[in-house]
Amino acid sequence: MSAAYYPVVLDLGARCCVVLGDTALAEEKSAGLRAAGASVVHLRRPFQPGDLTGAYLAIDASDDPGAQRAARAEADRERVLLNVADVTHQCDWIAPALVRRGPLQVAISTSGESPFLARALRERIEMMLGEEWGPFTAMMGGMRRRLRRAGVRGDVQQRAYRRLVRSRATSLIRDGNEAAASAVALTIEQSARTAGSQGLMGEVILAGAGPGDPDLLTMGARAVLADADVVYHDALVGPGVFRLCGPRTRLVDVGKRSGRRSATQHDINAAMIAAARSGELVVRLKGGDPFLFGRGGEEVAALREAGIPVRVIPGVSAALAAPAAAGIPVTHRGVSASVAIVTGHRVGGGPSGLEAMARSVDTLVVLMPAELEIITGRLAAALGADRPAAVVSQATTTNQQVVRAPIGEIAAAARAARVEPPSTLVVGDVVNVLGEVDAFATGEVALLAGAAVSPR
Ligand SMILES: C[S@@+](CC[C@H](N)C(=O)[O-])C[C@H]1O[C@@H](n2cnc3c(N)ncnc32)[C@H](O)[C@@H]1O
Repeated sequence: MSAAYYPVVLDLGARCCVVLGDTALAEEKSAGLRAAGASVVHLRRPFQPGDLTGAYLAIDASDDPGAQRAARAEADRERVLLNVADVTHQCDWIAPALVRRGPLQVAISTSGESPFLARALRERIEMMLGEEWGPFTAMMGGMRRRLRRAGVRGDVQQRAYRRLVRSRATSLIRDGNEAAASAVALTIEQSARTAGSQGLMGEVILAGAGPGDPDLLTMGARAVLADADVVYHDALVGPGVFRLCGPRTRLVDVGKRSGRRSATQHDINAAMIAAARSGELVVRLKGGDPFLFGRGGEEVAALREAGIPVRVIPGVSAALAAPAAAGIPVTHRGVSASVAIVTGHRVGGGPSGLEAMARSVDTLVVLMPAELEIITGRLAAALGADRPAAVVSQATTTNQQVVRAPIGEIAAAARAARVEPPSTLVVGDVVNVLGEVDAFATGEVALLAGAAVSPR
């Protein structure tokens, strides 16, 4: 009847609902209404005046246009809310597509525009919400009733629910370990009960933001970003990633950039500790993986020392993603069986074992190669000036740039191409193994299966 619908969840307990029609759909609708506790009158004969009298809700699944018109007129007279199956303009209400997980129901409506789309979305949501969400919803309900009875403060309750939602409880139920999930819930419930006036302690999650493309964030990182109260992020984290944050999330840039006073490690730790102590969910978002040249270990140690609950969500490191995005497999049968990841930071200044490392592996990945001339000069002297090399800049972003040249010439080539940081240097025969294809930009890796391999 209208283009705009108001969604509700009706309590049909013992209400009289009439279903018209001798069709499979009518049987299905009757069963659905009965399952919701309704008292169903299913009339399989043609419509007769008075059929809808006293009904709370009615469904005409008769597939008979004449009978449908008569039912529609009676529903208007009797003020009964009628749904005429598949005839949207004769409906007072329409049934959404449903995902049911015990007490949890997700309803999808396209306001009658496309039942197909509603079904397609239902299938997606069904994949997202496994059967474990039924018992988990019941578990949350139990916790809610108990915390309310115990008179626990509203904000403390909210934090407890959020913590339970992002805990391992759903995975434990999925793995058939409902007892362990209940234990997790109980621990959270107990800490909410004993939280006192200071409220519930928050937590810090160190999460990897990947190399740049938001698609390369893990599902775990996405989930905590959507939920975070505050995100302390590095300079390398891109705007596409911030769009994954929740509407109330505060973003704090603590990145180190040249020409700008950046927060000290001490300041960052202190801010995270204070936020977690005030009960917030703090996400420390680091480029790539938090534990690879990201000072993640130091931060975990400082947080633990301060008694803050902390966990780590690994990320896709640029050390692997940058070569991959440039179509360079860091290992390749018959070409490279070993890879080392080193930092180029300050190696120019003196002995660092760089040469020994480069000689002992097939592929060398150098992060932070700011002193490219010096680093590549030393590598050329150790490995020979013609060892293949590549500089991959801003990998996985739309500005990705790949420069390939022998190690003796790569610094000049990168300068000529004006590559921008961040960039990663890759050295080894794997650089040319798939040919000169920017695999990320072209998506052609699959087409390269037959490309020539040049063994060492
Ligand atoms: C401080 S390190 C942090 C590495 C990060 N934890 C990781 O796992 O990717 C920063 C270096 O990572 C590399 N890097 C980060 N993002 C990159 C990107 N999108 N493309 C190329 N290199 C990148 C650069 O070598 C940069 O200097």
